[in-house]
Amino acid sequence: MKNTIVVGAQWGDEGKGKLVDVLAEQSDMVVRFNGGGNAGHTVMHAGETFKFHYMPSGMLHNKLCILGTGVVINPKDLLEEIKSFSESGHKPRLKISARAHVIFPHHQLIDAKEGGKIGTTGRGIGPTYSQKASRINLRILDIIADDAESRIKNALKDVKDILIYDEIFNEDEYKAYCTAVTIEYAQYGQYFKPFVADTEDLVRLAARAGNTVLFEGAQGTLLDLNYGTYPFVTSCSTLAAAAFVGGGAIPGVPIRILGITKAYTTRVGEGPFPTELVGEAATNLREAGHEYGATTGRPRRVGHLDLYALRYAIRISGIQELAMTKIDTLALVDGVKVCTAYKIEGKEIDYFPADAPTLEQVEPVYTDVPPIANLTREEWLQLKDKAQIDLPESISSYIKFIEDFVEVPISILSHGPERNETIVF
Ligand code: IMP
Repeated sequence: MKNTIVVGAQWGDEGKGKLVDVLAEQSDMVVRFNGGGNAGHTVMHAGETFKFHYMPSGMLHNKLCILGTGVVINPKDLLEEIKSFSESGHKPRLKISARAHVIFPHHQLIDAKEGGKIGTTGRGIGPTYSQKASRINLRILDIIADDAESRIKNALKDVKDILIYDEIFNEDEYKAYCTAVTIEYAQYGQYFKPFVADTEDLVRLAARAGNTVLFEGAQGTLLDLNYGTYPFVTSCSTLAAAAFVGGGAIPGVPIRILGITKAYTTRVGEGPFPTELVGEAATNLREAGHEYGATTGRPRRVGHLDLYALRYAIRISGIQELAMTKIDTLALVDGVKVCTAYKIEGKEIDYFPADAPTLEQVEPVYTDVPPIANLTREEWLQLKDKAQIDLPESISSYIKFIEDFVEVPISILSHGPERNETIVF
């Protein structure tokens, strides 16, 4: 298998975890390159259910897993994840970039105060990336250093004015916070020391030795800081290109870029969503697909498949193939449609609006879709195991319609939560 970058092609939650789990088996190394604990995936594997926020699902296949430089890490949460994974009898093979940035409790407090209008996950992602860009944040290499305590104290001095001005703490609270966090984070540093490495070098050496590397993106293309539905986006790049910057993918080495899309659309948090459903239709789709956030438990906003937005995501991320998940959910609801164009003031447009208020106002143009065949899990598995996969007409014509519109093939089709319910064409 070629080295592969997996990215979400919508607003996140497309089912990347399940696909990465399937692809990780054929890879030697799995690398996460962006985001932090805002991501969350549930993977069902050998009868066990795992919820990961940081660790790639490659962990379950005993592959070397890497948290690259582009990731922001809350050491407390990562430590808990590693511990609970180890307690379930698994041995994590994990390396963490020395250059990855550290999420502190004050980042979460700022996020809780200011993230409401975007509907963030509250994990401190925006404040951490913004202090990284302001060059006042600490990296993993700082908290494992021999003088970690003094580095942490100095960094907390640098953010003192911000924390007091933003009324996150008063003077006394700030002093107590500094004392507690300095000790706590220096201890995390000691714990993580054996995991820390120059991960980009590990990736480079693996690729040079002919090993297969799988790059796992977090969130989705439409949440990209530069090209997503700004300001209703996350605070890092979510495009395939981010694998080169934050994960050590090497420009020039052939790579496959696989985008994941649901058979419909979901979004969590605020921001434009042209094909959003409301009322009973929304409830039916949400319940059929169990659309509740893995990180926050929030009910997801749901809607028709937006092919116009998907085609934009494919173009800006350079997606070469699609994997489509949750086709089984679509079979449980009535009135399936896909959006193929946007209109503004009655006229079709030929661009994806960069301006969020404009995107809020577009009128989606729909094509009706005949009801999708409702197969049981057993029927799906029988179908999948045939040498010549003969999909029901309603599913094959849905796929063909999408492929023709977005101009890339759907090479993987996934039904249900289990990994063996995945068809690779
Ligand atoms: P943040 O990444 O927590 O700052 O949140 C910014 C926006 O991205 C909010 O609308 C979140 O709901 C959304 N978001 C962040 N991570 C995910 C994810 O993993 N899935 C879906 N939406 C996400």
